[in-house]
Amino acid sequence: KKITVVGAGFVGATAAHWAAAKELGDVCIVDIVEGLPQGKALDLLEASPVEGFDVNIVGTNDYADTADSDVVIITAGLPRKPGMSRDDLLAKNTAIVKSVTEQIAKYSPNAYLIIVSNPLDAMVYVAHKASGFPTNRVMGMAGVLDAARFRTFIAMELGVSVEDVTAFVLGGHGDTMVPLPRFSTVAGIPLPELLPADKIEALVDRTRNGGAEIVNLLKTGSAFFAPSASAVQMAESILKDKKRILPCAAYCNKEYGVGGYFVGVPVKLGAAGVEEVIEIKLLPEEKTAFDRSVEAVRNLVKNLQI
Ligand code: NAI
Repeated sequence: KKITVVGAGFVGATAAHWAAAKELGDVCIVDIVEGLPQGKALDLLEASPVEGFDVNIVGTNDYADTADSDVVIITAGLPRKPGMSRDDLLAKNTAIVKSVTEQIAKYSPNAYLIIVSNPLDAMVYVAHKASGFPTNRVMGMAGVLDAARFRTFIAMELGVSVEDVTAFVLGGHGDTMVPLPRFSTVAGIPLPELLPADKIEALVDRTRNGGAEIVNLLKTGSAFFAPSASAVQMAESILKDKKRILPCAAYCNKEYGVGGYFVGVPVKLGAAGVEEVIEIKLLPEEKTAFDRSVEAVRNLVKNLQI
């Protein structure tokens, strides 16, 4: 198997690290900056005798080296700066994601694409258009990260192991994301049984602002450990045909009444990529919040100059 990571920055290099350490396959890192992917790939390869992972790792500026990838994780783009919204990135990252996707599609026509670049829901749409790939092979990483943050905050609040905590997040990857506490559990116990509503609401708020919290702490750049781990978990589910149910930005048309956009929904991820969008019945207030989130995605996509 072969995994290509586009973008050798914080998210891309760390994704390469997780993928190599898990021995998911050979890893190719491609970036526009000369030397950067080569240097990071060689450095990572030199960690392999110490850590004992045995995969090939190549860094390149030439898309020919990405040929025949099974999964491609696209992280190329500019990250958010403090005070900058994800939407400010729209025009710049549209041009970048379009051009890299065209190159990837040319050399790996059968690949599964996992988009990470922001603004996420719009960039998945751009990658879908630019690749011409069927919708089961194009998806975005957001929900796994948002749910992981929610799980972390729940575990911290209750003082329990994160291993026992599950969380459920729907909608776009923005301030309108919809964490659903009633589907979040601790060892199977629904969260509302364990915490009062105001405490849960505080955790939901923190989750919604999880990206900004890290941006404000770092001052330069944005989160990368959890985002890259999340993208690699999606890649793993595809490469190993695990059929995990993960929240991903997936194409929904009739599902949830979305009407042809990529939004965060639970999907079955296996060897055929997005094998199924899992539809659940939402309560009226959840549906309202979800629809608001979809509307935000729709507005973003409407402003795209592809
Ligand atoms: P970074 O700046 O460290 O890395 C981005 C890399 O992309 C740089 O190495 C740059 O040279 C490269 N690049 C730029 N234009 C390129 C092109 N045309 N072809 C190939 N490579 C190109 O940024 P970082 O922190 O790795 O973030 C990457 C992206 O991921 C950003 O858009 C960020 O907002 C997004 N992100 C998304 C998350 C999500 O939940 N979906 C979470 C975290 C980051």
